[in-house]
Amino acid sequence: MTKPVTVSFIDPAADRPTQEVEVVPDGSLTLLQVAQTAGLEITATCGGRGRCRSCRVKVLQGDVPPPTMQDRVQLGGEEIQERFRLACQTRLIGACSILPAPPLTEGGHQILAAPNTRIDRGALALDSGVEKHVIVAAPPTEENHQTSDLEEIVAQLPRHVVVENTPLGVLRDLPETLRAKGGRVTVTTFQDRILDVEPGDTSAHKLGVAFDIGTTTIVASLLDLDSGEELASVANMNPQAVYGGDLMSRIAYAQNDPKKLATLRVKVLNAVNDFIKEACDKAGVSAQHVYKIVVVGNTCMHHVFLGIDVSYVGLAPYAPVVRHPIVVPASELPLKATPKAIVCLLPLVAGFVGADTVACVLATRIYESQEPRALVDIGTNGEVVMGNRERLMACSAPAGPALEGAQIRHGMRGALGAIEKVRINGDVECDVIGNVPAIGICGSGLIDAVARMLDASVLAASGVMRHDFKDSLAVWLRERMTKTAEGRDQFVLVREQESGKGEAVALTQSDIRQLQLAKGAIYSGILMLQKVMGVSDAELAELMLCGGFGNYISTASAVRIRLLPPLPLERITYFGNAAHIGAQMALLSETERARANELARRIEHVALASQPDFQDIFVDAISFSAPPPSPVAS
Ligand code: FES
Repeated sequence: MTKPVTVSFIDPAADRPTQEVEVVPDGSLTLLQVAQTAGLEITATCGGRGRCRSCRVKVLQGDVPPPTMQDRVQLGGEEIQERFRLACQTRLIGACSILPAPPLTEGGHQILAAPNTRIDRGALALDSGVEKHVIVAAPPTEENHQTSDLEEIVAQLPRHVVVENTPLGVLRDLPETLRAKGGRVTVTTFQDRILDVEPGDTSAHKLGVAFDIGTTTIVASLLDLDSGEELASVANMNPQAVYGGDLMSRIAYAQNDPKKLATLRVKVLNAVNDFIKEACDKAGVSAQHVYKIVVVGNTCMHHVFLGIDVSYVGLAPYAPVVRHPIVVPASELPLKATPKAIVCLLPLVAGFVGADTVACVLATRIYESQEPRALVDIGTNGEVVMGNRERLMACSAPAGPALEGAQIRHGMRGALGAIEKVRINGDVECDVIGNVPAIGICGSGLIDAVARMLDASVLAASGVMRHDFKDSLAVWLRERMTKTAEGRDQFVLVREQESGKGEAVALTQSDIRQLQLAKGAIYSGILMLQKVMGVSDAELAELMLCGGFGNYISTASAVRIRLLPPLPLERITYFGNAAHIGAQMALLSETERARANELARRIEHVALASQPDFQDIFVDAISFSAPPPSPVAS
């Protein structure tokens, strides 16, 4: 029988073994799996499919199998020589010592949180459903002894409550609370439930938090439920991202494994607790006064947050376990920061059209429009909604993480050192975030670069780099059309000597293909809804971009590469982080939360893959040029 061996994972900062794991090297486990079983986080953006570079490790000692095809494609000859490997592709065959490499050089990480995420509070009924009642109740007396502390309090309330729903924690504190200030207490209710009873008058403190839990980022706002004012906001990466950058990878990780589902759930619950504490600290208020929390997210994030199995969400027909709105005490989740709050999750539409899309529809008020409008959330899992006050249709467009820089050889998020804009005019000029030497390219830079490469005839409309054609290009362009060490075609954006990476920042043919697949997914969603609803480009009154990413892209470049339809640019607007705005609206207003429930029932889901002409539409959408108009029958 094979004996266990020791795998040491070295701490890159401290240069000493951080973790030593004993494993039997039976050839079935990858280094990524060994690390994850040991509780070590190695980022696996593509979910261990060998399609990104995030799980790079350096083998310092010991034997590993020869590099796989994916190792060669993602890492290239030089890194392989230096004993870099993809942890997800490298099987353990003996004792070894591993240095996890930073997945991306992303100093000064910038979250694509949308600015101007303000809601029109003037147009919003401030009816959060949370009420505070300051009452004076007498404790039971000898004359009035066939009663209880709770009954005496309830008797003074101006509204009906269901006493049976009173939280145990409130009952446990009640004897002291009732007698602390001569019977003067503040009773907090949400609809007909008692949430809290506090001594004295605390009616000035009534807070809520709205969460948008995205696959990549989590954004939260702390609001005063009476005035509607935002007191603080927090945005950060979703800590689950190390288990897969896109939804399907995340689902694949947790599928049929309750322990892994629990791992993801604990990650998000901890993050939510931390966000609440951070927002309250920033605003100088107590988390004990947060009474209502509204959460929106896609179907996977929604289910994982609640600890619901996502196995079937990842399998056709991608059915969620539950679609209706959920209201659950925070103590049941549990959210330790705010055990007395009530947590409301907006409903889902179907499959991958989740509560975040419902929140976008609510925020943009597309349901009131007379003319057809569209909203597009460009993200790892994009969503498209189209319609007007008569009819609303939605579909999901699985773009994957390429537009966020993943699966692109020199891709990175919109952070310090990322190319964000490209001009090709007499030479190639790149704008880099932070004005420092470039170390990679982010999604908005990628869209811009490809648009300019098409303009400069470096790229054909099919997406092929025109190395065959390069002799007819200007010398300064031709010089940038080179080969990678593995002999693959590339276009150099920043030369080695000008980059901050020690090597040129370039786009390869496979990067272009990844972008084509991502943008093709989004654009085919738009095209399909236009087709099903019979809405031409000319009839589409507005296309609203939602989500953080929409703010950073050049709409002209997005139209040029056919990520978006060829509308006049003034008809393409940026709405902001609509999902987060919708969550805030449902937090401040029960009228809006009820509207979200009604909208979720109204929106018709279009499953793209099951549409008979989807393949044709997708093939058209990945091309960089529109097909010629069909000949008119004579
Ligand atoms: S290549 Fe290993 S996780 Fe993506």
